[in-house]
Amino acid sequence: MRRRPQALTEVREAPPRQERKRATRVLVEHHEVLRGLIRRLLETPRSEPGRRRALADELFDELRMHELIEEEIFYPAMRDVTPAVGAAWSEHRQLSDQLAALVRADPRTGRFDRELRVMHDALESHAHLDEERQMFPEIERFADEEQLIELGDRLQARLGRLRSSRRLRTVHRLQRALLRRTAR
Ligand SMILES: [Fe+2]
Ligand SMILES: [Fe+2]
Repeated sequence: MRRRPQALTEVREAPPRQERKRATRVLVEHHEVLRGLIRRLLETPRSEPGRRRALADELFDELRMHELIEEEIFYPAMRDVTPAVGAAWSEHRQLSDQLAALVRADPRTGRFDRELRVMHDALESHAHLDEERQMFPEIERFADEEQLIELGDRLQARLGRLRSSRRLRTVHRLQRALLRRTAR
């Protein structure tokens, strides 16, 4: 049997390179992940509390990671490009409070439905109206293209590392357990 040339083997075994994207596109795509989870939660009836809880847990993980990459990488880099960054930062605190309220709510109750609707509206207001409609177009107009691509690389890399971090998953699990233990 003929052996494959060494160089080709190396190419085939190399990890797939990530497609380079502007930071704003990386974040919009992650917003879509968050929206998809909310949509699935809204479609899941009270009669399936286990599934509701699993989806709420996934939303907790993804939203926390989203806030983390924006606050660690994106917002600091864009602070001088647009004043909208300051307001966005404080909106994250409100989103986190609402996320906590959702996690605390019993998925078999109407309270969960109410908290979910508030969560949906808060996320749309922040991610869609404030970021996608206002902040991102402004940033794309004024920020340097190469900087946006480099920031996109960093956001994708950080998100990948956070997603595979067992430590972070454990921290989130403990945070949710604490929230549920203190639920009224
Ligand atoms: Fe944000
Ligand atoms: Fe965002």
